Amino acid sequence: MAAIKPHILILAAGMGTRMKSKVSKVLHPVLYRPMLHHLLDAASALPHASINVVVGENSSAVKEACSGYKTINYIHQPSPQGTGHAVLCARETLQEKGGTVLVLNGDVILMRPETLSAFIQSHEQKHAVGSLVSAKFKQPFGYGRILRDGSGRPLAIREEKDCSETEKQVNEVNVGVYLFDTDSLFSALERVQTSNKQKEYYLTDVVEILISGSESVNAFLMPDPTEALGINDRFALAEAEEILAERVRGHWMREGVSLHHPRSITIDPRSRFGSDVEVEANCRILNTVVESGVYIEAGCRIENSTIRAGAHLKEGCYIESAEVGPESTLGPYLHLRPGTRLEAGVKLGNFVEVKNSHVGKGSKASHLSYIGDAEVGADVNIGCGFITCNYDGQKKHKTVIEDGVFVGSDSQAVAPLTIGKGAYVASGTTLTRDVPPGALAIAREKQVNKEGFVARLRPQKKKD
Ligand code: UD1
Ligand code: CA
Repeated sequence: MAAIKPHILILAAGMGTRMKSKVSKVLHPVLYRPMLHHLLDAASALPHASINVVVGENSSAVKEACSGYKTINYIHQPSPQGTGHAVLCARETLQEKGGTVLVLNGDVILMRPETLSAFIQSHEQKHAVGSLVSAKFKQPFGYGRILRDGSGRPLAIREEKDCSETEKQVNEVNVGVYLFDTDSLFSALERVQTSNKQKEYYLTDVVEILISGSESVNAFLMPDPTEALGINDRFALAEAEEILAERVRGHWMREGVSLHHPRSITIDPRSRFGSDVEVEANCRILNTVVESGVYIEAGCRIENSTIRAGAHLKEGCYIESAEVGPESTLGPYLHLRPGTRLEAGVKLGNFVEVKNSHVGKGSKASHLSYIGDAEVGADVNIGCGFITCNYDGQKKHKTVIEDGVFVGSDSQAVAPLTIGKGAYVASGTTLTRDVPPGALAIAREKQVNKEGFVARLRPQKKKD
């Protein structure tokens, strides 16, 4: 592990013009999360002294999207005048703190924490005033090129638009990740000019300025260039998403998870799996814990949830912010909404929707039900088409269904009410008040049969 604890500075104030979007580039989702969250996760995993993010016009949107990250210090760049200018805006905040600063471009999100650690270590070992990460690309177009002298020492970074034809042939690129001694960085930045094609203050010019002042700058060549991708447009975004998804899938397959048709499966980096989990095609598993022996059939979407050991999710389950008990069987085509907690061995069948409810051990609702704001006990059997009428147009109300209750098909519970332990509810009943334990509740019109009614309605024509 690296010994220095740098101040981290993420540059995120650019316009992202190449995205052609009203949404700030760093907030575009990659694997269902804003780009910036991936970078903040990588940064948070490193030993660091502080995390600072440079924002501009996008300031309020970025702050809102990143409100879950409590320790960010925001720095305002009044107008986007280039990466060098963005860093200069952090001068007041960082210079008095001294030490080392790790600068990260906000659109370079695939760097593994291990790679960043190795970079920091290499910077320390070389006793350099500045270090940059480089990568070798088959198609370096669009990136700044690393120019070296005859003996291979870095001399400067030249932006694509400012490169000569010979310089464009260089395939070693600047990744957009740097370490600097804070004082040296800011005194070099003072000397950066805008005499380039884009008329911007380039952070990259700092390298040449330091070297011409006889300071040492170290280039750390990244072993895996797929980590170096900068997301400038929607093609690069799609590529980054694929690289990240592949990386996560590969990790879990190596850890003993079977993914069938893996390319169709999306797992985000926050999800965790036990052993012997099987996942069929077209599933999305986001920020979810899946314990051992779980089977997930095709087309399930699960997010912010926990699926306990041995559960079986049939095709097309949509599960949000819920907990599924061990050995439960769900679906096909079911919806668990936030706040749902199922105990062990629960069976919920097709077209069942459960919201903000707790369902006890071994209880069943096998077909077509809505259970909302309910406390359901153990060994309850809920027939087809049962509905909790939990909303009166203004407030939500609770339904309590105690242990061992049998609810007949096509009934409704107009909440708030309690169905007592072991009670029966007759099919077709609309419950409007409590049912005592062990009672039968029946509330429906008596059946009337009108003999001969159809014949009177449609008298048969006489045959000729
Ligand atoms: C930059 C590098 C280039 C490198 C590439 C790697 C410079 C001048 N060029 O080019 O050498 O190969 O990244 O991906 O640094 N930003 C601000 N304020 C600004 C301008 C940019 O905060 O005024 C932020 C952007 O939001 C972005 C990052 O800085 O997150 C990089 O800016 P971008 O315009 O994408 O730089 P590149 O042209 O890709
Ligand atoms: Ca970029």
